[in-house]
Parts: sequence; C-alpha cells; structure tokens
Amino acid sequence: MAGKQQCRIEFRPAGKVVQVPEGTTLLAAARRAGVHLPVRCDGRAACLMCKVMVLPEEQPLGEISLSAPGAAETRKLGLSLQEHIRLGCQARVTGDSIVRVPEDRLKAAIRKQMEQQNDDLSDW
Ligand code: FES
Repeated sequence: MAGKQQCRIEFRPAGKVVQVPEGTTLLAAARRAGVHLPVRCDGRAACLMCKVMVLPEEQPLGEISLSAPGAAETRKLGLSLQEHIRLGCQARVTGDSIVRVPEDRLKAAIRKQMEQQNDDLSDW
C-alpha cells in the first residue's frame, strides 16, 4: 500500500515550513513547525482560538488544499469561512499550503508601541 502523500505547509509571517502527511490537522502541523497556535478546548472546535487564514491567491497549487469544513467548523465559523478563516484544529491538509497565523495580542501591542516610538523619534 502506498504511503500518504507528504504536504509542504508554510506558516506566515514566521516563514516556518514543515512536511506532514496528508490528513494532518493544521494545528498538528503548526506544532511540528514550532509555530504557536493558542488552544483552549483541546481541538474540539469550541474555543475558536486556533483560527488561521488560508488565502486562495497565495496557495502554491493555485487552490485551497484543505479538507472541506465539517459541521462543527461550519457552525462555529459561519460567515468567517467566506473570509478564508479556518479552525486549525479542524482543517486537515490535502496538499501543499500556505497558512497565515494571526499575530498574538501581546506581540501586536508591542509592535504598535515600537512603531509609535519610531514615529515619535522621526519627528525630531
Ligand atoms: S482548539 Fe479550540 S477551536 Fe480549535
């Protein structure tokens, strides 16, 4: 029996890349790549903290290579699915993919503060 196809998953903006077998969840792929996706419900499609974005125009194969959203993911995400948001714990890879991980709040706050400081300095 042939083994499962290996899929190349790139996580942006970190630029970390990992090879995982087809059928792996994005959450498991992120962990293997050393990319932090917050979780609180342990992958039960309840906390919505593991959201990621998969943009069709960025995909190496020219189309989204993920499992179709299941009932729980569809119910939880609703219209966000149209904005290419997926739950990392539910979406499974079916081919090479590029995945955007939202910046965590602390990092976003620090970046904003640093940008503000740079702006202040450039006023001199
Ligand atoms: S880990 Fe909670 S919704 Fe995915």
